[in-house]
Amino acid sequence: MHSTVALCLGLLASLAQGVAFNKHAALEDCLSGSKTAVDAIDSDDYTRDVAPFNKRLQFTPATIAVPTTVEQIQSAVACGSKLGYKVTAKCGGHSYASLGLGGEDGHLIIELDRMNSVVLDKETNVATVQSGTRLGHLAAELFAQGNRAISHGTCPGVGISGHVLHGGFGMSSHSRGLALDWVKGMDVLLANGSLIHASAEENKEVYWGMLGAGSNFGIVTSYELNTFEPPANVTWFVASLPLKQNTTVAALEGIEDYVRNTMPAELNMRLYATRQFTQLEGIYQGNKTELEAVLKPFLSKIGGTLATSQTVTWIKGLEHFATVKLNQTYPYTQVQEQFYGKSLELSGLNGTAAKSFADYWFNVAKQETAHWYLQVDFQGGVNSAVWKADSELTSYAHRDKLYIMQFYISTTSTPETGFDFVNGWAEATTSALEADDWGMYFNYPDTQLDRAKAQEMYWGKNLARLQKLKAELDPNELFYYPVSLNPEAALESL
Ligand SMILES: Cc1cc2nc3c(=O)[nH]c(=O)nc-3n(C[C@H](O)[C@H](O)[C@H](O)COP(=O)(O)OP(=O)(O)OC[C@H]3O[C@@H](n4cnc5c(N)ncnc54)[C@H](O)[C@@H]3O)c2cc1C
Ligand SMILES: *[C@@H]1O[C@H](CO)[C@@H](O)[C@H](O)[C@H]1NC(C)=O
Ligand SMILES: *[C@@H]1O[C@H](CO)[C@@H](O)[C@H](O)[C@H]1NC(C)=O
Ligand SMILES: *[C@@H]1O[C@H](CO)[C@@H](O)[C@H](O)[C@H]1NC(C)=O
Ligand SMILES: *[C@@H]1O[C@H](CO)[C@@H](O)[C@H](O)[C@H]1NC(C)=O
Ligand SMILES: *[C@@H]1O[C@H](CO)[C@@H](O)[C@H](O)[C@H]1NC(C)=O
Ligand SMILES: *[C@@H]1O[C@H](CO)[C@@H](O)[C@H](O)[C@H]1NC(C)=O
Repeated sequence: MHSTVALCLGLLASLAQGVAFNKHAALEDCLSGSKTAVDAIDSDDYTRDVAPFNKRLQFTPATIAVPTTVEQIQSAVACGSKLGYKVTAKCGGHSYASLGLGGEDGHLIIELDRMNSVVLDKETNVATVQSGTRLGHLAAELFAQGNRAISHGTCPGVGISGHVLHGGFGMSSHSRGLALDWVKGMDVLLANGSLIHASAEENKEVYWGMLGAGSNFGIVTSYELNTFEPPANVTWFVASLPLKQNTTVAALEGIEDYVRNTMPAELNMRLYATRQFTQLEGIYQGNKTELEAVLKPFLSKIGGTLATSQTVTWIKGLEHFATVKLNQTYPYTQVQEQFYGKSLELSGLNGTAAKSFADYWFNVAKQETAHWYLQVDFQGGVNSAVWKADSELTSYAHRDKLYIMQFYISTTSTPETGFDFVNGWAEATTSALEADDWGMYFNYPDTQLDRAKAQEMYWGKNLARLQKLKAELDPNELFYYPVSLNPEAALESL
């Protein structure tokens, strides 16, 4: 009895393997027929392209295709679609959940980082940017070609696509908005094989959906970006904020009042804490004298002191937060860390919620010896360009939130302990909040959420409309990943 069962299972398994093998061979044939290069297993290219930023989440793709033209992207996607593979675009590979590798094994990966041209039109100041470009290369080129810029995050290896399709907050965002606010238009390859142009005038619903949830609907091949002329000089700064358990709630309430009502547009700032220290850091679009006039009265109210500041050129300001060289192109060796991270987008943090957050910080986090950090980006406020932008134009669901908060812990030894640590802190923070006052940021995705919860957290009030668009554009879920928009949910509610 026993052995028969085992035999049958063995036979079924080998049959399944045979099918998988043929399917895979057919994929390789299809790709080579369409003249799309693939990374040979164990080549240097494969080793670099398969390496995720988060080493905890290594997945094995079916194949990594490396197109260098739009036609090759189209053919490669058609091959995957025809042969029943899930297809995933990878740009900078910096997703916290390794979503650029599909977030699971077996996807056909469309590796885009060979396609990184940036061309600034000096008449219109609109840049045409291929979708495999990294942020640091984009910044270096915009500046070199015509003294222009967009606002974006701090890490130069991050890819433009993951970043602008889901948000993009950095050290010029309070002054100039999210990275996605600079996207004028884009060319998108849809699941049905059509390459369309989406902008605020053309295919408006696709444009809306792409800017906030873009990984769900298609593969962008190229962007048109509006740009601004950056200030010649900026001043970066660090202020120390030595909080105590009994001063933290008052400090948080002081910060909230300042960020919401007073913080000037020129100031860009975040709170950054580890077990050893807590500081405010940022970039002021002005000189040192002006920075001091703005910052010192605020710092004295919350018990902080300006520790260092320096006026530098725009590019040096970007390099200061990048910590490595800006101009990152192919071949790119992925920086890797092994960690668990989670985000919260919050309307505010005061009273009972602030007390609960602070108690966890001092009673639990200060005792945790694994490396962790807490980061609170000051996204909103009456003077913030993020708040001033039109919230109806894009599907980024948390534009109205004051803070983007991030909890991060290294999980080199025991991941489970890290999960408990981070989730405990987030729960302590949200337990006293109303549901409307918090959500999560897709660009710092949480691997411990189930699909339904994750969609609700990332896309909040826009979820039903996004699911409907998913059902229209990708009903068979060619662009599936573990927390992608669920088209069934839209169909069920019809
Ligand atoms: C070290 C580090 C620093 C960071 N700093 C910041 C920061 O300062 N501010 C901030 O807001 N965020 C920051 N992030 C988060 C970052 O914005 C996101 O991880 C972003 O999604 C990464 O984009 P990527 O292209 O590098 O990632 P990938 O892993 O390549 O892709 C991420 C997602 O986008 C999809 N995608 C990629 N290309 C395309 C395309 N052409 N068309 C459609 N979908 C596509 C992928 O399929 C995947 O779902 C940081 C992340 C890291 C690791
Ligand atoms: C960035 O690096 C690429 C590749 O090395 C190079 O071709 C390009 O000129 C550089 N751009 C700038 C602005 O330095
Ligand atoms: C694909 O879908 C888009 C958007 O709905 C549509 O404009 C286009 O005509 C479709 N293409 C094909 C080949 O059906
Ligand atoms: C920028 O700073 C440099 C010195 O660091 C100075 O010479 C220059 O005048 C400054 N430019 C502006 C516009 O403030
Ligand atoms: C906070 O506690 C310390 C002792 O740990 C005490 O010296 C200080 O006065 C307290 N501060 C406030 C604002 O209660
Ligand atoms: C800083 O800027 C102000 C106003 O723009 C100017 O009056 C002042 O001279 C500048 N200070 C320095 C040190 O450059
Ligand atoms: C306190 O926080 C809530 C969100 O949690 C926010 O709506 C409210 O405006 C905040 N109150 C103050 C006084 O800032």
